[in-house]
Amino acid sequence: MNSPALRTRELSRRFGRFVAVDRVSIEVAQGEIFGFLGANGAGKTTMIRMLCGLLRPSGGEARVAGLDVYKESEAIKRRIGYMSQRFSLYEDLSVAENLEFFGGVYGLDRAHRRRRQEEICAEFGLEAHLGALAGAVPLGFRQRLALACALLHQPPILFLDEPTSGVDPQARRSFWGLIQREAQRGAAVLVTTHFMEEAEYCHRVSIMAAGKLVALGAPGELKAQHAQPTMQGVFISLLKPEAVP
Ligand SMILES: Nc1ncnc2c1ncn2[C@@H]1O[C@H](COP(=O)(O)OP(=O)(O)O)[C@@H](O)[C@H]1O
Ligand SMILES: [Mg+2]
Repeated sequence: MNSPALRTRELSRRFGRFVAVDRVSIEVAQGEIFGFLGANGAGKTTMIRMLCGLLRPSGGEARVAGLDVYKESEAIKRRIGYMSQRFSLYEDLSVAENLEFFGGVYGLDRAHRRRRQEEICAEFGLEAHLGALAGAVPLGFRQRLALACALLHQPPILFLDEPTSGVDPQARRSFWGLIQREAQRGAAVLVTTHFMEEAEYCHRVSIMAAGKLVALGAPGELKAQHAQPTMQGVFISLLKPEAVP
C-alpha cells in the first residue's frame, strides 16, 4: 500500500492550560477527501495549522508528505496547498495579479507560471473577471480564486479550512466538484466544514468536539453505527452529554 499523505499520532496543542487539540490520531491517503467536522472552537483550524507547519504542536507526532512537522516545516510548506479560513487574497489586487503574485510566492518560473495560470483559469472559469479587483468579485468566485491560488504549484496535499462558508448552495456544489477533481488526480484533501451535509462529499470524515476526535469513518459507516439517516443526525447524537468521552 502507498504510504499515507499524512499521519498524526496523539497530536496535541495547548494554549496555556487550555487544550485545543487533544491527542488526535488520523491518517489520510493520497487521493482521499478527508473531512474535519465540528462546531466552532472544536480545534479544526488548530489541527490544520499544525499540519501546515505554521503552529508547533505541544505533543504527539505528525508527518506530512513523509516530513516531520517539528523539524521539516519549511519543506512541508512547499508540498502543500493551503486555503485559510479567512483567505489570503489581496483584495486591492486584480484577479490576474493575485494569480501572478501567488505563482511567484510558490517559486514558479515565468513560463511555468503563465502556463499554470492559463490552465487553472480555464478550468476554474476565472477568465470572466481577470481584470476585476479580487475584493469586488462575488464571494463564490473569490473562493474559486483562493483555491486556484493554492493549486498553482500542483501540491500533492491540500488543506482547505471552511472553504465554502458564506456561499450559496449552488456555488458550494460547484466548489466541491473542483475538490473532487483534485482528489481524482491523486491529491490528498483535508477539508473542514460545519455544513454536515457536505460530509457526504468526503470519503471519510472525523468529528471533533472540544479538541477530541469523537468519530471517524466513512459517512455511510457513521450513519449505520449511529442508526441515523443523515450526518446531521450522527452529529447531534454524538454531542449528547453521555456520548462525549
Ligand atoms: N492562539 C490561540 N490562543 C489561545 N487560544 C486559541 C488560539 N487559537 C485557538 N485557540 C482556541 O482553541 C480552540 C480551538 O480553536 P480552533 O482550532 O480555531 O477551532 P475551530 O477551527 O474548530 O473553530 C478555541 O477555543 C480557540 O479559542
Ligand atoms: Mg476554524
